[in-house]
Amino acid sequence: MGLFKNYVSQTRKPEGFLGKMMIKGMNSGHAKMADWGLSHFPEINPHEILEIGCGGGRNAGELLKRYTKAKVTAIDYSPLSVEQAKEYNKTAIESGRCIVQEGNVSALTLETENYDLATAFETIYFWPGLKTCFSEVAKVLTPGGYFMIVNESDGTDAASLKFEKIIDGMKTYTAEQIINVLKEAGFSEIKSFHHESKPWITVIAKK
Ligand SMILES: C[S@@+](CC[C@H](N)C(=O)[O-])C[C@H]1O[C@@H](n2cnc3c(N)ncnc32)[C@H](O)[C@@H]1O
Repeated sequence: MGLFKNYVSQTRKPEGFLGKMMIKGMNSGHAKMADWGLSHFPEINPHEILEIGCGGGRNAGELLKRYTKAKVTAIDYSPLSVEQAKEYNKTAIESGRCIVQEGNVSALTLETENYDLATAFETIYFWPGLKTCFSEVAKVLTPGGYFMIVNESDGTDAASLKFEKIIDGMKTYTAEQIINVLKEAGFSEIKSFHHESKPWITVIAKK
């Protein structure tokens, strides 16, 4: 595998030295987009938040800052992401507000109907079988709980379509495609937002 392909493929499941570099890059590189996504979120006071595909844990940290009464469980199927997210959120873990653990969204082993908000930043491109994964998210959400997806790609931008060809197992989606699968998985009251000048999208759905 060429170095470039190896490096960009670290977005799918970071590991090793290149994975560590990618995680640090994603923590800073995705921050503006993640905060833009969060700015669309309705006024709620979640108690239990599930942050899926947490990478280096920056967004888990942001959720802890924004929702001061909430606990955040951050999961990722990459042991390296879990290690890095634990380091990033060390203080919150020590104070009992944050848990970071390994977990695969395609088969969640978490408590059912426990989370009132689930978030997924820049990760659904890699989820195997979107409907199965969205149904797994629905399983662990409380009735009325929210699921928020934030993507840097709207499924049509040239850069992401190029990466889709390079990174094995990556698939980009339009907001419409995401909405259709969310409906199939039982979500309703779905809203989507597109950034005014960038291909960023946010989709918010209710269980
Ligand atoms: C592009 S990174 C984004 C990381 C972080 N959310 C961010 O915005 O910086 C994608 C992350 O999703 C994780 N991931 C991909 N598929 C997953 C799955 N099926 N279950 C859990 N995590 C997954 C990867 O390991 C990786 O850490």
